[in-house]
Amino acid sequence: MDARAILRRKRDGAELTDAEIEAFLAGYVAGEVPDYVASALLAVIFVRGMSARELEAWTRAMLASGRRFRFDGLGRPAADKHSTGGVGDKVSLPLAPAVAACGVAVPMISGRGLGHTGGTLDKLESIPGLRTDLAPERFQRLVAEVGFAMAGQTADLVPADRKLYALRDATGLVESIPLVASSILSKKLAEGIDALVLDVKYGSGAFFPDPERGAELARTMIGLARGMGLSALALQTAMDRPLGRAVGNALEVRESIECLRGGGPDDLRELVCALGGAMLAAVGAEPDGEAGALRIGRALDDGSALERFGRMVAAQGGDARAVEEPARLPAAPECEVVAAPADGRLGWRDVSELGRAVVALGGGRRRLEDAVDPAVGVVLLSGSGAEVARGAPLLELHHRAGRGLAEARERIGRALAIGPAPELGPLILARVEG
Ligand code: URA
Repeated sequence: MDARAILRRKRDGAELTDAEIEAFLAGYVAGEVPDYVASALLAVIFVRGMSARELEAWTRAMLASGRRFRFDGLGRPAADKHSTGGVGDKVSLPLAPAVAACGVAVPMISGRGLGHTGGTLDKLESIPGLRTDLAPERFQRLVAEVGFAMAGQTADLVPADRKLYALRDATGLVESIPLVASSILSKKLAEGIDALVLDVKYGSGAFFPDPERGAELARTMIGLARGMGLSALALQTAMDRPLGRAVGNALEVRESIECLRGGGPDDLRELVCALGGAMLAAVGAEPDGEAGALRIGRALDDGSALERFGRMVAAQGGDARAVEEPARLPAAPECEVVAAPADGRLGWRDVSELGRAVVALGGGRRRLEDAVDPAVGVVLLSGSGAEVARGAPLLELHHRAGRGLAEARERIGRALAIGPAPELGPLILARVEG
């Protein structure tokens, strides 16, 4: 295999063969193709894109680099949801136990915070003692026993993605539709699920803010999933404002627990029901998404989703008492209340700046090796679109000894747009079937 010859062919506009793609990725994972050659190929793919056939071969080769779970012996279907990421997006926390309580297994492999967005693993790890670094056998057993498990990628789960993702992150090559689609789908295919529901965000807090680009990403992922035998659909949902009221790890766990108790913010509950309902319908557990959403709503109201969540927390080593008594979750020692700078309605100029404000407080990473403070974050005291009065309390900054506070205030100022009529898109913009 001549990696540079493959790189040159792609550079000059040729369509790579399956054999070339397999050889290149196998060589890269084995350490025979150096990072600088791989990053050059990624840059060419970033600019030129990939044909549908190349993308499928690339994803298959990534998948072949590691192990694949199987849940076909469980006697119930398995499904998962994946979000392209956002600010305050804690949907997975109430959704996975609610879907499990409705009889569908959820083997959820999640990620950490990336850029201005939060990550499910960081949120979960704010529960004292909870571990997300589960060995594959334990993960498989918990899915069978509890109905769901929430873990991080292990060394043998799509190692090609671990290497490629780190390289893309380091070289500014993240926002490419074929590279994002193959990265996400390779991991979801390795979960051994029967159906996948994608939550593709749009708006200023999303990685692809433009709804058209988001729809293209959704169609690409759905086509790729189906080509590889996985049923998939997508909902395009709002990230032109934060989801719910809390942004920051433990603060979001608290809000998720409120949702699991049948309460919490309306937008969070609506998305959990819509996405969870789509999962139930996709595996035939409910006739359609509407019936599925009603069933998820019942699991949130009758305590069955909360009970599952508590079981998962205990099984993954966490303090399950924190589920009953959220006061046991980490809390920041100090809280500053920010007043509304003007009369008007609460709107958003740039939601990603709100995410960066939380990173500044210590709630996210600037570098891979940074530690995350589970307690800090922002709580909105009014919902997006609500009337606010100049000088009235607008939001809380939960901080530790003033760390990052000045930067957070500044970024919040850039995030907000208080005016007569904020332009807020629909919470669920579209359903994309392919
Ligand atoms: N999440 C992933 O897992 N991969 C990407 O490329 C982007 C988001």
